[in-house]
Amino acid sequence: MTSKNLSPKRQRGVTSPPSWEPSIVVFACNWCSYAGADTAGVSRIQHQPHFRMIRVMCSGRIQPGFVLRAFEKGADGVLVSGCHFGDCHYIFGNERAVEQFEKTKNVVKLLGLEEGRLRLEWISAAEGARFAEVINEFTDQVRKLGPSKLSARKLSAISYQLSAISQRVRRS
Ligand code: FES
Repeated sequence: MTSKNLSPKRQRGVTSPPSWEPSIVVFACNWCSYAGADTAGVSRIQHQPHFRMIRVMCSGRIQPGFVLRAFEKGADGVLVSGCHFGDCHYIFGNERAVEQFEKTKNVVKLLGLEEGRLRLEWISAAEGARFAEVINEFTDQVRKLGPSKLSARKLSAISYQLSAISQRVRRS
């Protein structure tokens, strides 16, 4: 390739800044949603890659403090996922997850974050296609919202408030 083929910017060594992509944290229960993600992978179902998974034994384990920590560490969106009702390996774990999720939504609202940055979904081990669909939809939704205000703000200024809220929520 000669320098004639390059755009004027590239000839000057100027590269365009990388476009922003959302950073998403997915909390997935071991028995259903994590296995659903695995099914998507094994079936080679294409989905957006801008997420990190955190595997927990049951969605009932996902306390508001976990979600707040993810936002505190720079997540732009958090997806909580578990087994469908009636399929939880710990019987009532996903019912507890709903209670925890409601508390989390309230705290997220208090912090000034948009509701669309948080989502709760039930995905079974066989639902690889559904996992991909949820990831794609949620990523697009968070992309539209833009970077999280929480990660863009000076976290040090609000970290005291955040840890106080996390502690209070953890105790409840
Ligand atoms: S084991 Fe999956 S939600 Fe409880």
